[in-house]
Amino acid sequence: MIIITGGTGRLGSQIVDRLLDQVAADRIGVSVRDTDRAGQLAARGVRVRRGDFTEPESLADAFEGATQVLIVSTDQTGEAAVARHIAAIDAAHKAGAKRILYTSHQGATEDSLFAPMPDHAATERYLSKTGTPFTALRNGFYTSTVRHLLGRALETGELIAPADGPVSWTTHADLAEAAAIILAHEGRFDGPTPPLTARDALDLAAIAGILTELTGRTIRRVVADDDEWTATMIGHGVPADQTNMLLGMFQAARRGEFATTGPELENLLQRTPTPVRSMLEGLNTQP
Ligand SMILES: NC(=O)c1ccc[n+]([C@@H]2O[C@H](COP(=O)([O-])OP(=O)(O)OC[C@H]3O[C@@H](n4cnc5c(N)ncnc54)[C@H](OP(=O)(O)O)[C@@H]3O)[C@@H](O)[C@H]2O)c1
Repeated sequence: MIIITGGTGRLGSQIVDRLLDQVAADRIGVSVRDTDRAGQLAARGVRVRRGDFTEPESLADAFEGATQVLIVSTDQTGEAAVARHIAAIDAAHKAGAKRILYTSHQGATEDSLFAPMPDHAATERYLSKTGTPFTALRNGFYTSTVRHLLGRALETGELIAPADGPVSWTTHADLAEAAAIILAHEGRFDGPTPPLTARDALDLAAIAGILTELTGRTIRRVVADDDEWTATMIGHGVPADQTNMLLGMFQAARRGEFATTGPELENLLQRTPTPVRSMLEGLNTQP
């Protein structure tokens, strides 16, 4: 049985959905924190069990009979995230899974300036020591993040953010489809995958350029000073830790940490991955 954690999350739910296209429902199980939210999956014949990484005993039941476990990384950061991932890895190992998969990141490195990246690197390091074969899915940066970076650019004509760099924007849907293909073809990748990304890496100036084309109005990229931007964000009520994490993302992008792309996602999907332009076209770009 293939077990997927986070089956009620954005990525996890889409992975299950795509996997159902390839594998019989009775070979798929989800481990979720709230089984009530997984009613539709149960109705489709997927095994639904409660599993919380902070309660390892729940994982023994949720992972029972697993041949592969795909661990969707949690939305925490730092020690809390790594501890949860380690608990899930240990439970998958104990359940006798033949392969453990983990949603890592294209930019997973220990010395990254963006807080989640060292967490991914630490989780991959732990995975490599368990003795169970593993696959770390080196996912591209979610395209959905771009929306949050635009701020009020469409209203004001100014995309204001700290200096950035090219980023491997990749959609949840494409990454979910790739994960499902990898699960259905067990062992296709061993260890960290090549970067699973769309073909281009675009910086915010390029995104402002696309928005200019789509809207017919000039959307200007304005580079904000790091300290002034931080003070403005905090002044608008964004918590300091969130602001600092986001600043770290810009600084990491500036250093080229998310610039790597590759053909592997396209090879898996056998089509061109969705470009960031498609998401921008879906925004309400008319005044
Ligand atoms: N590639 C990228 O650019 C990028 C960007 C942002 C985040 N990420 C990573 O990708 C992950 C998935 O993204 P997403 O958009 O699907 O986010 P999401 O919808 O927030 O999914 C996170 C999942 O983690 C589960 N989770 C959290 N704490 C848990 C715990 N203690 N035990 C078991 N499960 C737990 C959540 O369960 P519930 O459904 O019960 O809430 C949820 O399903 C994120 O959590 C983050 O690690 C990647």
